[in-house]
Amino acid sequence: MIKIGLVGVGYWGPNIVRSFELTRKATVSWLCDLNPDNLSRIADRYPQAKPTQNFEDILNDKTVDAVAISTPAGAHYEIAHRALSAGKHVLIEKPITVDSQQAIHLMDLAEQVDRVLMVGHVFEYNFTIRALKDLIDSGELGDIHYLNFVRTNLGPVRTDVSALWDLAAHDVSIMCYLMDACPTDVTARGQSYLNENVEDAVFATFSFKKGIMAHVNASWLNPRKVRKIVVVGSKKMAVWDDLNLSEPIHIYDKRIAALDEIPDTFMDYKTKVVEGGVYIPHIRQNQPLQTECEHFIECIELGLKPISGGYSGLRVVLALEAATASMKKRSRIVSIKMPAQTNRRREKAAPGDTDLLERITEKVQDKLNNTIK
Ligand SMILES: NC(=O)c1ccc[n+]([C@@H]2O[C@H](COP(=O)([O-])OP(=O)(O)OC[C@H]3O[C@@H](n4cnc5c(N)ncnc54)[C@H](O)[C@@H]3O)[C@@H](O)[C@H]2O)c1
Repeated sequence: MIKIGLVGVGYWGPNIVRSFELTRKATVSWLCDLNPDNLSRIADRYPQAKPTQNFEDILNDKTVDAVAISTPAGAHYEIAHRALSAGKHVLIEKPITVDSQQAIHLMDLAEQVDRVLMVGHVFEYNFTIRALKDLIDSGELGDIHYLNFVRTNLGPVRTDVSALWDLAAHDVSIMCYLMDACPTDVTARGQSYLNENVEDAVFATFSFKKGIMAHVNASWLNPRKVRKIVVVGSKKMAVWDDLNLSEPIHIYDKRIAALDEIPDTFMDYKTKVVEGGVYIPHIRQNQPLQTECEHFIECIELGLKPISGGYSGLRVVLALEAATASMKKRSRIVSIKMPAQTNRRREKAAPGDTDLLERITEKVQDKLNNTIK
């Protein structure tokens, strides 16, 4: 049984405790928070976990294998650095850090001390997002033209990081995962309406190779909760809707066929629209946070590189830093470059990772065979 010390039990931390306990392969043996009210609110539910306001208690406990960090983003680096230095494996909530140099330091340190460093990019463990990746990788959608992400809600309003670093961090991790790459540049706009220098609404457009664009609209000032991704390909389009629990992905077999000649009328133009219907693939659902926790345990036990390791965390931070710089420079295009020394350390899918993917994702063709028209 892997023993975990959890730091930060505000809004998100309790979900992490529950998910680790559900795996039955790990137990949270310490709960740490600077705020005694937050600690006492959760301590009764998990009597096996010792509450503390002093992080040193976790570091000094030799029976603790790993530290999970769910504090505000600005505190991630210091806590992770101390945990790795004390020989603990580390799972950090997104974003891994608020500074790319700090992310690189953590990657270096984890390598030196030979410990797992994983970032909680929870959507990389969501079977419906994996199904979307299967659709892209299999060529089902054709060449990918562009992706459009919408993540809006009314609150929770943060004051420590902007909607870009809080909300769009998820979308950036998803786009990097789907494209299996770091974006090459970004242009972004954002406005601070409630708190100075904390953008509440952000519009950012990232570029990937081959002319692929990925646009993100993130806001905590929108009365409607929306979590949507549209992937437009040359053959088909896919729409992912996180709030549609039973049918999260719709595949539109519709496209504009290449025109041989300029049409005379609008109706002629309309005849070039290819209409093949709408498919709803059957996708096995999962509890993404539990799958993420299971993968962290698997990496510790089998010595694997995580799917969302330091490299994955770093490319998101680089993209967010560039988007922040673009917002400050009135939407100027800012390039994004993975430092050369980190590229060589790109986590290759270890055999165990591939097994995990095989186990939990079904092949696209199987899904299409089970579609409802
Ligand atoms: N994966 C997701 O979907 C998701 C959702 C929400 C939040 N998050 C992430 O989880 C993290 C926490 O977010 P939250 O919404 O729970 O924030 P929160 O403010 O509700 O809770 C953070 C807690 O950390 C405590 N804390 C702060 N500094 C600390 C320190 N140095 N040592 C110990 N405790 C400390 C605070 O007292 C608070 O109880 C953030 O990184 C956020 O981005 C992820």
